[in-house]
Amino acid sequence: MVAYHTHAYRNVLREVAKANAKPRSARNKDIALNFRAFFAESGRSGDAPTFQQDMQNVLTFMRSQREYKALLERYNPLIDLTGEERIEATARRVGLNMPKMPDFQDKYLLNFKSSLRRSSQVQRTMVTATATQVFACDSTSIAFSSEGDQVVINSPETLGALHTAASFLNDLHPVAFPTETVYGLGAVALNATAALKIFSTKGRPPDNPLIVHVSSRRMLQSLLPHNYKLSRSYELLIEHFWPGPLTLLFPCDHSLIPDIITAGQPTVAIRMPSHPVARALIAITDAPLAAPSANSSGKPSPTRAEHVLNDLNGKIPLILDGGPCEVGLESTVVDGLHEDGNIRILRPGGVTVEDITQVLVAGFSDAETPIPHILVHRRDYLDDALEQAPTTPGMKYRHYSPSVPVTLLRSTSDVPLGIEPLSPSAFLEDIKHVTPHSPDALRVGLLMPSDSILMKSLINDATIQWHEFPLGLVSEPAIIARRLFDGLLTLEREEVDLILVEEVSEEKEGLAIMNRVKKAAGNTRWITIS
Ligand code: TXA
Ligand code: MG
Repeated sequence: MVAYHTHAYRNVLREVAKANAKPRSARNKDIALNFRAFFAESGRSGDAPTFQQDMQNVLTFMRSQREYKALLERYNPLIDLTGEERIEATARRVGLNMPKMPDFQDKYLLNFKSSLRRSSQVQRTMVTATATQVFACDSTSIAFSSEGDQVVINSPETLGALHTAASFLNDLHPVAFPTETVYGLGAVALNATAALKIFSTKGRPPDNPLIVHVSSRRMLQSLLPHNYKLSRSYELLIEHFWPGPLTLLFPCDHSLIPDIITAGQPTVAIRMPSHPVARALIAITDAPLAAPSANSSGKPSPTRAEHVLNDLNGKIPLILDGGPCEVGLESTVVDGLHEDGNIRILRPGGVTVEDITQVLVAGFSDAETPIPHILVHRRDYLDDALEQAPTTPGMKYRHYSPSVPVTLLRSTSDVPLGIEPLSPSAFLEDIKHVTPHSPDALRVGLLMPSDSILMKSLINDATIQWHEFPLGLVSEPAIIARRLFDGLLTLEREEVDLILVEEVSEEKEGLAIMNRVKKAAGNTRWITIS
């Protein structure tokens, strides 16, 4: 057998082993041997694309058999019997003497092989004619075992949606799904062809690495190098923030994780999302999923299924709709792999620096080792290599920008030397002259806290058509974070000429909010509020 046949054969063996319930082991061994013969034959025929497609279908079929069996087991105590034994048992119950069926296995395999060929035809046509489907999922119908390995889903619709998504993923197609941070565009992470489709769908530069999402500690462990031991800091962070909006960098096992995921870095970024739909999807697909935010590169990240549909309609087969995202900004990306033991925050996000500090201070209080320092990139340290590298999230490339110009208005932070702050009315006169707009009125979007004093003074000007998107109270940065991207995307769709965003204090979620706003804004103006 040639290399990829051997590889595929091993994958199938693994699936057979997983499905290997005791009374069936003899039959499974026969199936495995039959596959070996089948592979050898396909290898000789030299039709590689057909063979690969068949392999995918075999794996999808076997996984779905396993899940189907798990479901049946819950309801049907006869499930562990073979078809033949089940007929016999039923026959005995009703007092019939059934003949043996020695050719059962051969018939089964024969039918299986021909149905494989048929299903590969069907799937090919299905995927070439893509209109994006949106399937609703009910998060409250999903529950996990304490280890996170088992998932129980009460709603048949949600179960069906997750299975359809899993089979698209196993067929190497990307699927959009909700996470607690933003919607992700997922693909199986250990397959370079699947991961490549994420890049082509998003128009993402290939040197920007992806985060790998796992559903359990066991899955995390399966991705890490054998001799790697988690540091005390990582143990604490995982214990407190997983599942949740925290991404950690780990050393990368290059024999397992394709280079396209890490963009050739020595590290791989991994997180365990807490959104039940995301976690159930990973568990059912039975594979780690690489997932960037589900938007065209450079655009604000989507926090609702409709944002994804507006952007990627026709480019992906399926979006799972799990409602609006609770956090609304992406995960915090943490690098704790440096020799000094310090924790470097590469991207502030859903888990705040204050939360991380609290956990590490408490966790190290009785330890002999000093409490690690928590360093926020660009706030507390600069690193020449990082400045150039796309690995510093959102540094090298344009980010979070709607197609409408965005201006950041600062009123409380220090005014840089040489800049004269403007009064609100002087600022408005200024933008009326420089912003291109239709002859009737300038349409301006306001993305500001609901209790903003600046907003009140701006909307006094009745010659401008205002589009307000109140973000929530200044005192509640978590709500502002949740609504920020929704606001940018909603105002873009309202076709305003300009979006004004007011700064917030860079504390708690405010640090992540300002990180995104500064990147979205084409320019910054200082305003005096009297
Ligand atoms: O909340 C999130 O993290 C969302 C959801 C979908 O999980 N995902 C997300 O992915 O925001 P993305 O691709 O938009 O941002 C991931 C960032 C990238 O900008 C990249 O720079 C950084 O994580 N990253 C990934 N792998 C890295 C690595 N090995 N070293 C440093 N940074 C890495
Ligand atoms: Mg992104």
